[in-house]
Amino acid sequence: MPAKPKILVTGGLGFIGSHTVVELVAAGFEPIVVDNLNNSDPVILKRLQKIVGQELKHYLIDCCDKEKLTQVFQSEMPLAGSIHFAAYKAVGESVEFPVKYYKNNLVSLFNLIECHQEFDIQPLLFSSSCTVYGDSDELPVTELTPLKPAASPYGFTKQVCEQLLIDVTNTKSIRALALRYFNPVGAHDTAEIGELPIGIPNNLVPYITQTAAGIRPILRIFGNDYPTRDGTCIRDFIHVVDLAKAHVAALNKLLNDTSVFFDVYNIGTGNGHTVLETVKAFEKVTGVKLNYEFANRRAGDVMSMYADTTKAEKQLNWKAERDLNNMMLTAWQWQKNIPS
Ligand code: WQD
Repeated sequence: MPAKPKILVTGGLGFIGSHTVVELVAAGFEPIVVDNLNNSDPVILKRLQKIVGQELKHYLIDCCDKEKLTQVFQSEMPLAGSIHFAAYKAVGESVEFPVKYYKNNLVSLFNLIECHQEFDIQPLLFSSSCTVYGDSDELPVTELTPLKPAASPYGFTKQVCEQLLIDVTNTKSIRALALRYFNPVGAHDTAEIGELPIGIPNNLVPYITQTAAGIRPILRIFGNDYPTRDGTCIRDFIHVVDLAKAHVAALNKLLNDTSVFFDVYNIGTGNGHTVLETVKAFEKVTGVKLNYEFANRRAGDVMSMYADTTKAEKQLNWKAERDLNNMMLTAWQWQKNIPS
């Protein structure tokens, strides 16, 4: 039996990373997880192993620690490539703590790139974000839509990381694809893994499910005075399992097509839903009435953001399959099964 190709997965116990680990195993890869548990919990590793039915390697290290990351590469060579999830990703929080965001999101990528170069590993799949588009007035956005100034420090760190990858891949030392996620939500069908916000959730859907569970007294909808169909912001919510499958599709392209040195792909559904429509979908599919109120707009928010996903569909042979109802249902099932 030939050895399975090993893929280093930074942030592999996080929300998107953990769901991608499941799809990597299903696709015949051996994921090597690197995660400092800053935004996860050891129980996720146990639950992941239960889902995939095998032990998984996990290195409890911070990607900002170059020495420790180098030791992982030394221990795990030969590696076929890496997927870099490890980053902070809350738009609102990045406005409050810019230094934390710049430091973590940039240094971790500097270190990973240097390790790739030192160990001569080319394929690097990067977790980017639709926030790189800024407050685009061209919707839906395509990968050719000009990037406007980022609306938050988080979005800017992703713009800088993409530019860094363009500059580094120009040296031909590595080959990289950047996946621009839209709004990842939902959870695995087993309800064993899902979004595990530490403390008060920044993101909408975990706040919805925690309010429905009685953990939060009320959901505040940030702004209902936007010029949209119901006054609330529009987002392209995508099921995290669809997003995880997109990573396997992109990884296969990166591994098999050595002519590609850098490219970017929108990973969304192409459908925009308002915040209020999302709340209503949650209530309809779960039967749980949500306590919510309208509040002021949140700094760093853009009014509307949704994807044109034609390029990923054509070049990665990938398309999102799950709808908003399934996203809300699986998010709720996970909330009810979150380990105490
Ligand atoms: C969505 C909408 C809020 C909380 C996320 C990720 C980011 C990137 C893009 C991947 C906004 C509103 C929220 C609440 C609310 N994805 N909201 N009440 O800001 O679009 O960014 O997707 O890289 O990493 O963070 O997501 O869920 O925070 O907000 O009304 O309690 O919900 O104002 O309009 P956002 P979000």
